[in-house]
Amino acid sequence: MISFPHLIVPLVSLILFIVFLFKWYGNPSSTARKRLPPSPPKLPIIGNLHQLGQLPHRSLQALSKCYGPLMLLHLGRLPVLVVSSADGAHEIMKNQDVVFSNRPKLRVIDKIIYGSKDMAFAPYGEYWRQVRSICVLQLLSNKRVQSFRRVREEEMSLMIEKIRHSSSSSINLSNILVSLTNDIICRVALGRKYIAAQESTKIVSKLKEFQELLVTFNPGDYIPWLDWINRVNDFNANVEKMARWFDDFFEGVVEEHRNRKKRETNLKDSSNEADLVDILLEIQRENMAGSPIENDTIKAVIFDIFVAGTDTSSTALVWTMAELLKHPKSMEKLQNEVRQVAGSKLDVTEDDLDKMLYLKAVMKESLRLHPPLPLLLPRESTQDSKILGYDIAVKTRVIINSCAIARDPLLWESPEDFCPERFLDTGMDFRGLNFEYIPFGAGRRGCPGITFAIAVAELALAKLMLNFNFGLPHGATEKDLDMTESPGDTVSKKIPLLVNVRKNNKY
Ligand code: HEM
Repeated sequence: MISFPHLIVPLVSLILFIVFLFKWYGNPSSTARKRLPPSPPKLPIIGNLHQLGQLPHRSLQALSKCYGPLMLLHLGRLPVLVVSSADGAHEIMKNQDVVFSNRPKLRVIDKIIYGSKDMAFAPYGEYWRQVRSICVLQLLSNKRVQSFRRVREEEMSLMIEKIRHSSSSSINLSNILVSLTNDIICRVALGRKYIAAQESTKIVSKLKEFQELLVTFNPGDYIPWLDWINRVNDFNANVEKMARWFDDFFEGVVEEHRNRKKRETNLKDSSNEADLVDILLEIQRENMAGSPIENDTIKAVIFDIFVAGTDTSSTALVWTMAELLKHPKSMEKLQNEVRQVAGSKLDVTEDDLDKMLYLKAVMKESLRLHPPLPLLLPRESTQDSKILGYDIAVKTRVIINSCAIARDPLLWESPEDFCPERFLDTGMDFRGLNFEYIPFGAGRRGCPGITFAIAVAELALAKLMLNFNFGLPHGATEKDLDMTESPGDTVSKKIPLLVNVRKNNKY
């Protein structure tokens, strides 16, 4: 006969099991009751991390073909919603934009950009609103962008001269375009170019290191108990070192501005050429932002503009030139348009760009096929919500695959082909109203630098087309042109673009 003491253990286990079941089914937030988006099978501990690959936008696009336009991945312990359809993007960035306007806290960014005091990574809330409104109204407004027209035109002329006087007929166009965007941003944001060889190389190489740190795989970000790895493999120490370097650099820039004879920074007059640090210091001095601006905010905002503005713009230009070299008929059509608009003036200025409809279509098509930030910037939900019938829990990270959307065969005819003509007779634009085409994102967190970026890209393209005839290096055919993408948040062309260049003798 079984005695009572022997029954205690099974009895207690049974009671615990019933309590567990009761809690499980009784809890409205239990996943059993929820309708979750489909998920690819995951491995223990790492979840779906192994499926991201070197080029996550491509791997996620392939996965979405099997699991649908809304997928729930698990990167370690992190739930991540991946959106690959225009409908999904519309729901998140328009209908429920408020719920999805937060950014996740990223530790490297937090350490380097003053506790995420910048605009791109500040959590959604009052502070971000204040900083964004300074940027949108004071730093990146149409009028302000217009006020830097002279800087753009001077730097473009220098670029043309550099190519014209290059000793070889074959040039590295990638390097030239990186210098162009870098020099423009330096002058606009920091007030001067960093031209001393060691200065400029240092900045470019530090920015590159920063980009590399951002995409370095950090197990502790996804699997908290593996956090110790960063302490022993020097990762944390490297991040600290980089944070100090950037702080010294930006502190120096701000000091330089404070020390030099006070400029007349009349904010109401955007025609003067105050640089962005001048403007931020003026807002700080006059306490124009409603609440005081700290020095760290100034440095963080300048950091943002510097990082967000250089790499993306040069990447977009390099891809555009690569596509044109691959499609000589499009290049010829573009050259004809630009040269016809230039006419007897033998030059093009920003005033001519509105007449160049094909040039605008080329830029749009290039940004469709090669959005420099294909996964935009990550978002995070701030409450439980429903997207296209699926339940999405609070604190889910959200990745919008703009590249997959822009190549969706349900939305685009021959989506893999480079065909600028598709943009000629449509009003479709990249300003965040057409969700099938969002290279600059959309909604509250959409890119505030569109006007700035397009002003540089269109003029640079027009000047190049006017002044030179480009071809592939000797013996290479269009098929040989390598279009491999490089890993990173900004997806640039992996192999630098080498081109053969002949002067257009008329100019
Ligand atoms: C071709 C060039 C550019 C591309 C493709 C681009 C693309 C983007 C994208 C996709 C986002 C994220 C949007 C989202 O999460 O919905 C973004 C955000 C941002 N961009 Fe750009 N961008 C470019 C140039 C610029 C320039 C020139 C600047 C400044 C001078 C700039 C400043 C920013 C900032 C500050 C944010 C963060 C906005 C926020 O979170 O509130 N970008 N950009």
